[in-house]
Amino acid sequence: MIRAFGPGRVNLIGEHTDYNGGLALPFAIDRGVTVEAEPLAGGEIRAEARDLGETDVFPAAAPERAAGWRAFVRGTVAELRAAGVPVAGARLAFSGDVPVGSGLSSSAALEAALCLALLAVAGAEEPDRTELAKLCSRVENDWVGAETGLLDQLASLRSRDGEAIRIDFITLALEPVPLPLGDWRLITLESGAEHVHAAGGYNERRAECRAACEALGVEHLSAADPDAAAALPAPLDRRARHVLTENARVDAMVAALHAGDLPAAGALLDASHASLRDDYDASVPAVEDTVAALMRAGAAGARMVGGGFGGSVLALLPPGAELLAGATAVAPAPPARRL
Ligand code: GLA
Repeated sequence: MIRAFGPGRVNLIGEHTDYNGGLALPFAIDRGVTVEAEPLAGGEIRAEARDLGETDVFPAAAPERAAGWRAFVRGTVAELRAAGVPVAGARLAFSGDVPVGSGLSSSAALEAALCLALLAVAGAEEPDRTELAKLCSRVENDWVGAETGLLDQLASLRSRDGEAIRIDFITLALEPVPLPLGDWRLITLESGAEHVHAAGGYNERRAECRAACEALGVEHLSAADPDAAAALPAPLDRRARHVLTENARVDAMVAALHAGDLPAAGALLDASHASLRDDYDASVPAVEDTVAALMRAGAAGARMVGGGFGGSVLALLPPGAELLAGATAVAPAPPARRL
């Protein structure tokens, strides 16, 4: 029996920058999705989503479109085959402990674990992990219908144990960044509002960013001139301002962490949240309530994490801050791997 694990991720800062040629600072967490796999004669894939009690059966050689979790499995098989991996019949079963819709990337966790499991069943060598992240991203874009960027897949596949990674989405260069938390804690707390990429505002924001790029004559928003961006019609001016200021906050966060200045790190989380709420219009009332509750409990900073429009809130707690019910400590954990 082959077993592979794909972690979910927390993004410390740098939200909605990945598809805009910008910067982000994620890390993998110790929760994620585990896939069990074994070869199956006959050329069929039999996949079981244990947490849902559902099964999907389809020919490995010709997966057809499907909705929901089936799109991830069929898409991963199809994209691996398109990349030349000889995926044949297999029995798959998976379960996870990253809640779907929590903004902690259960999707990338599933894609990464499926890839590693299917590669192992096929006896194929693991390709370059950045290429694998791109393959997973194609599953998300072309099979699931969410126009997501590369943040989650790179975080799940290329994170480093004990460190965050600064990603430059133009060069795809990764730089490890220490997280000297001492007796401070990073926690996530679910807002209770589930975020759904394909149906939510995510694809709409991507279209707005494309429109802004077209108007400015730039390839990606991170290359925009701030004055020219400020002259765009609303709301494109605010979308561009979010991207430009968020990129700057990523490097300010890297500097704060290198300096061990955790109050400054907290202030940057707050500034990121304000920008996502006011300039990117990516918040919802449940998220605002959760941020407010965390600040009342003594957080040094708190912000929505992931695509927004619901999902979890990330907070930095100094010693002595109250740990609200349902809050989960998060720390940088190893990337996707065979178990
Ligand atoms: C989701 C997407 C990522 C990224 C974030 C926002 O998690 O999957 O590609 O765009 O939203 O930073």
